[in-house]
Amino acid sequence: MPDTTSAPDTALVVAIDGTSGSGKSSTSRGVAERLGLRYLDTGAMFRAMTWWMLRQGVDVTDADAVAARCEEPEILVGTDPVSPAILVDGVDVAMPIRGDEVNAAVSHVAAVPEVRALLLEQQRGVIGGGGIVVEGRDIGSVVWPQAELKIYLTADAGARAARRAAEEGGADHALTRESLLARDRIDSGRTTAPLVLADGAVHVDTTPHTLDEVIDLVVSLADAAEGRA
Ligand code: DC
Repeated sequence: MPDTTSAPDTALVVAIDGTSGSGKSSTSRGVAERLGLRYLDTGAMFRAMTWWMLRQGVDVTDADAVAARCEEPEILVGTDPVSPAILVDGVDVAMPIRGDEVNAAVSHVAAVPEVRALLLEQQRGVIGGGGIVVEGRDIGSVVWPQAELKIYLTADAGARAARRAAEEGGADHALTRESLLARDRIDSGRTTAPLVLADGAVHVDTTPHTLDEVIDLVVSLADAAEGRA
């Protein structure tokens, strides 16, 4: 896919993991923009795979059925933090992958080892020589444990639901909270690459902080980590 993001002149890799709705995407994109780095949203890749499975009528709770079809879609992901592209078989799915149907199904698809193995290889290919902020659940623990900076973001469930509901144009707060907690349970409880605090990760609870404060903190940690890249 054409990607207008120029290659940064640093090998720095910043891994940002954490729970659903903790501010990972806004923080990761903000940090990448401030530092002139590329950006990879690995959650979007799992969402794209899920969108395709749903379109094909695959039962996403049947791990064997998902595993049997997961090599079929071509998923392309961009690395521009200003407008991160995500395409499935040439179709722009940036909008539909954020819908309720995908929200409810994605943790099931992301728990399938064959899906994870396939996307892991693709993620490592994109990270390549570095100069990138990568967000997900297992970046610091599995995808790129050698990252110079690892951040683990969390926030109170209430704060996360309020932010997500506002982002989604006033979605029901209680339902959003339940949906986030359900995803956390599956993401943390799965056998392959569960959500964990990676070795050496800095844990940041974003509940009492504004987005700008969190970005400032991560940028200063990244500046300090730059010497290790
Ligand atoms: O960050 P997100 O909400 O877009 O992630 C969507 C789903 O994908 C969520 O259930 C966690 C899963 N995921 C994962 O298992 N590993 C990643 N590296 C990124 C996301």
